[in-house]
Amino acid sequence: MLITWAVVVATATAVCATSPWSSLLLKLKDRNGSNAGRHPLPDIDLFQDMFMALSDMQDNYFQRWLGTWPHGIDWTRAVMSTHVAATLRTISDELELNRPNQGVECTSRKEDVIAGYFADVIAYYFAEDAFSLRNQAYDDMLWVVLGWLESIQFINEHSRFLSGTASAGLGTTPGAEAWYGSRWIPAFAHRARIFWELAARGWDTKLCGGGMLWNPRLMPYKNAITNQLFISASIGMYLHFPGDPNASPFGSGANPTLTDNHRTTEWPPHDPIFGRAAQEAHRWLASSNMTNHQGLYADGFHISGHHSGGNNTNCDERDEMVYTYNQGVVLTGLLGLYQATGGPAREHYLREGHTLIQNVIRATGYDLARNRPIDDGRDPTRPIPPWRGLGRLGVLEEACDALGSCSQDAQTFKGIWMHHFAAFCAPGALLRSRAAVATPAGAEAEAEAEAEAEAVRARHEADCRRYVPWLRHNARAALGTRDARGLFGMWWTAGLLRLAAVEAEMVEAAAAAAEEEEEGDGQVVDYRNLGVPMDEVWMREVDLPRPVPMPSLEEEGEGGQKPLTGGTGGLGGRDRDNKTDPMMGGSGVDSDKAGVWDPNLRGRGRTLETQGGGLAVLRALWVVSGHEL
Ligand SMILES: *[C@@H]1O[C@H](CO)[C@@H](O)[C@H](O)[C@H]1NC(C)=O
Ligand SMILES: *[C@@H]1O[C@H](CO)[C@@H](O)[C@H](O)[C@H]1NC(C)=O
Ligand SMILES: *[C@@H]1O[C@H](CO)[C@@H](O)[C@H](O)[C@H]1NC(C)=O
Ligand SMILES: *[C@@H]1O[C@H](CO)[C@@H](O)[C@H](O)[C@H]1NC(C)=O
Repeated sequence: MLITWAVVVATATAVCATSPWSSLLLKLKDRNGSNAGRHPLPDIDLFQDMFMALSDMQDNYFQRWLGTWPHGIDWTRAVMSTHVAATLRTISDELELNRPNQGVECTSRKEDVIAGYFADVIAYYFAEDAFSLRNQAYDDMLWVVLGWLESIQFINEHSRFLSGTASAGLGTTPGAEAWYGSRWIPAFAHRARIFWELAARGWDTKLCGGGMLWNPRLMPYKNAITNQLFISASIGMYLHFPGDPNASPFGSGANPTLTDNHRTTEWPPHDPIFGRAAQEAHRWLASSNMTNHQGLYADGFHISGHHSGGNNTNCDERDEMVYTYNQGVVLTGLLGLYQATGGPAREHYLREGHTLIQNVIRATGYDLARNRPIDDGRDPTRPIPPWRGLGRLGVLEEACDALGSCSQDAQTFKGIWMHHFAAFCAPGALLRSRAAVATPAGAEAEAEAEAEAEAVRARHEADCRRYVPWLRHNARAALGTRDARGLFGMWWTAGLLRLAAVEAEMVEAAAAAAEEEEEGDGQVVDYRNLGVPMDEVWMREVDLPRPVPMPSLEEEGEGGQKPLTGGTGGLGGRDRDNKTDPMMGGSGVDSDKAGVWDPNLRGRGRTLETQGGGLAVLRALWVVSGHEL
């Protein structure tokens, strides 16, 4: 990994030394590095760290001859390709920012870098197991939609940069000399559209007055993730999908309740069907009572009595489990709804997002008003600070992190949170509106609307700026988990702990205490880490009992996937997820050279998914800290 990075940075530094690229980096630099001395990598610029996280991810985990990450599973691969495309967008933005100051040679060197990783994205388009994904849960399908929409946005922005028409608004028609990448837009758009249609079949109005079902093969369960994904994917389709005239091969039409029996196989861009679906799903989620006493999304709702044939149709049995990604995906949807809606009332979408972000930050144990964690971590009797609901010591944490018991699903979650947070707080995001509705007539009204939009923008950006120190704190923690090869660990908090003073038992005790606390809160089923319970609450009658568990396909590596559910812990039940199996994709690198215990070697260890998380937090910091410049 060092080779690619060294070559790129050395070349870029030599050629681009005079550009403000270097001074920009200096401003954001934090040379202190909480782990100086422990980790052999130099504490270098954030942009370079981000770039290195990307190149390490691709060099260590991506197999070009297969066009995929063999140790991923379908949905985590979809998320990883989203991270790659998003990072390319960020690198492209950086080029755009500094366009006037760079020589041709400098720009073309960086262009090589972008094109190289974009080739990985194209390769993955063919390696993605679209056929298997068609038969998975609705959330699995929606990650696919988000991934290709991200790639389309990258292509559009990069094409605009290259053709010098940077101020072209939301238009998706590339100019005559379009970048070659734009030739892939129809393919990516087609896949996004197919998977949106498939997923939209999960929209159900018979139970709970609406909402997406999680999985058609289980008892009805309406969860946060599927609904948040549907909001974000639908509004993303409305804003960024360029249309799709390709009726092949499965043009079967979407859910008629959402599409007014729209039967066409040709979708135009900005079809209002997508926008209405997003609004409807948001309305349902917002009134679903899915947030807990800390203002965080619980996982989802069962319908009590449903399994015994009762006629209850209300979402009334809440699984109180709290995961990081359930607090994140909706942020992209809220931003999109703001961008797509007219009128002053649309600011409520942004306010909802900021409230959620602030609830998350608080639940990591961080005081935004004072810009520091509420626990200082220096208490010698408490080397592991207390759990605060979604983290400790001001760092985002999954409940399974401290125990090292996270599944492949959970290893992906924090990166997802960071990705959607970055989208919500990206500087300039509010300028890219597509207010199709309610354009006020008259110059005076127009000026008024403009002033109003400006005020909204100022409030939004001021809030986003406030999150930067917290975000930097999280990035520093994550950087502290890198091993000798530069690979990120799962449990970011460990990057800030004085591990010499921490022993395994203390971690386990702290984690157990956190778990107990959660359980005091009502019904908590951590099915994402422990597997879906084989009981009547979750399983359909016909699937109970199941004497022969499904074989654990996922552990067979490449191409392995459970056909029926998303993620680890599917219908095979709780015992199938062997956390100690070294073949599960852990890097197996022992960074314990200095004799310091490394809690990130436990469980699945360092994986593609933990690397994606490291990349996402660095990228989020790079993007959001743009508000400070
Ligand atoms: C960096 O280290 C110096 C000296 O140890 C310290 O005074 C300073 O506060 C540190 N800065 C940050 C941002 O941690
Ligand atoms: C919201 O959900 C909680 C937890 O299930 C429940 O205790 C509460 O009664 C619900 N509130 C409403 C208004 O349904
Ligand atoms: C279904 O609902 C009706 C009316 O609310 C009620 O009388 C009946 O007992 C319910 N049936 C079952 C099986 O719960
Ligand atoms: C889990 O995997 C390890 C290593 O392959 C093996 O030794 C152990 O027996 C497995 N445990 C179970 C419960 O399958």
